[in-house]
Amino acid sequence: MKVLGISFGRVNSNCDILTKEALYSAKMYAPNVEIKFVNTMKLKIGRCIGCGACSTALEKGKDNACVVKDDFQYLENLCREADAIIVSAPVYVLQPVGQLKNFTDRYACRHDISAIPYVLDRRRRGEAPGDPDDFPMERLRQKPVAYFAVGGARTPDWTSMGTAGMHLFGLSEGMRVISNYNANDMGHIGNPLLDQKMMDDVHEIGWRVAAAVDLPADQIPYYGKDGDQGTCPVCHQNLLMVNGTTTVTCPLCGIHGKISIEGEKLVVDFPKEEQERARGTFKGLREHTAEIQSFGAIVAPKIMANKDRLDGLMKRIKEFHDDWTE
Ligand SMILES: Cc1cc2nc3c(=O)[nH]c(=O)nc-3n(C[C@H](O)[C@H](O)[C@H](O)COP(=O)(O)O)c2cc1C
Repeated sequence: MKVLGISFGRVNSNCDILTKEALYSAKMYAPNVEIKFVNTMKLKIGRCIGCGACSTALEKGKDNACVVKDDFQYLENLCREADAIIVSAPVYVLQPVGQLKNFTDRYACRHDISAIPYVLDRRRRGEAPGDPDDFPMERLRQKPVAYFAVGGARTPDWTSMGTAGMHLFGLSEGMRVISNYNANDMGHIGNPLLDQKMMDDVHEIGWRVAAAVDLPADQIPYYGKDGDQGTCPVCHQNLLMVNGTTTVTCPLCGIHGKISIEGEKLVVDFPKEEQERARGTFKGLREHTAEIQSFGAIVAPKIMANKDRLDGLMKRIKEFHDDWTE
C-alpha cells in the first residue's frame, strides 16, 4: 500500500511538518505501508490552457499525458500510483496557494471517474468503438484523502476557504475525505511541532488515511478537528450558499438542504437523494457532463442563426489588441 504526502508549503516549514508526521503515523499503522513525500516548491506547474484534450480523450476511454509540458505529469503520476493521499497547503489570502489550484484544474478534468462507466456503457451498446472491458479500472478507485490547510493567522476566520479550496482536488475522482484539517495559528507558535494537540490530531489522521484504503466507502469514519463533522454530510465542510429562503446549497457538493434552528443550534437536513447526487459522486459528475453535452443542441442553432452578426460583434473584440508584447 502506498501513501503519498504532498506539501505545497515552504521546504521544512509547517505544511512539510504536518504532512511528514501524518506519513510517519501511516507507516506506524502498518509496516507494509510505503510512504512517499514530495514538496512542490521546486516543481513548475503552470495553468490549464483549456485545450480540452484530456477530457476529450477520457470520454473516448483513452488516456493521455497533459499537453502542457512541465512538472504536472510527475505529480499526477505519483497520485495515480498512490492508494491514499495526504495534501497540505498554505493558506494565502484565505485560500490554498495558487499552485495547488493550477494542479487541481489540470488533475480534475483528467480524473472524472464518471466518464469510465459512461464510456464502457456506450461501448457495450455499440455507440462507441473499443472493447467494453478494455479500460484501466484502477482509475475507478476512490482513494482516501486528507487535507491540511495551514494558516499563519490565529483565528480560523483567516483560513475560511482553506480546506474547502483543497477539497476540489479530489472531487472529480470521488476521493473519500478522511479529514479537512484547519491548522491555524501557525505564525503565532512558529512551528506545529510545539502544539501537542495538533500533533496528536495529525497522527490520528495519518493512520486513519492508511486504514481507510481497505475499508468500504460507507464504513470510513470522518475525523474532524474537535469532533466537528461539518455541516454537509458528504464533504464535511461548513460553507453554505444562501438565497433568502430556508433552502441552502453546499457550494462544494451542489446539493440542497433545508435549514432549521433548534435552540442555539443551526441544523441543515440534506435528504438522502440529494446526498446521492453530490458533485463528487458518479451520479453528480455524470449530471454535469450530461449538462455540458446538452450545450451543443442549444448553442449550434443559435450560432447558425446569428453567424454574420456574430462575426461583426467579434471584430471589435479581436481588433482590441493585447498590451503584452514578447
Ligand atoms: C502571500 C501570503 C498570504 C497569506 N495569507 C494568509 C491568510 O489569508 N490566512 C492565514 O491564516 N495565513 C496567511 N498567510 C500565512 C501562511 O499561511 C503561513 O505562513 C503558513 O505557515 C505557510 O505555510 P508553510 O509554513 O508550510 O510554508 C499568508 C502568507 C503569505 C506569504
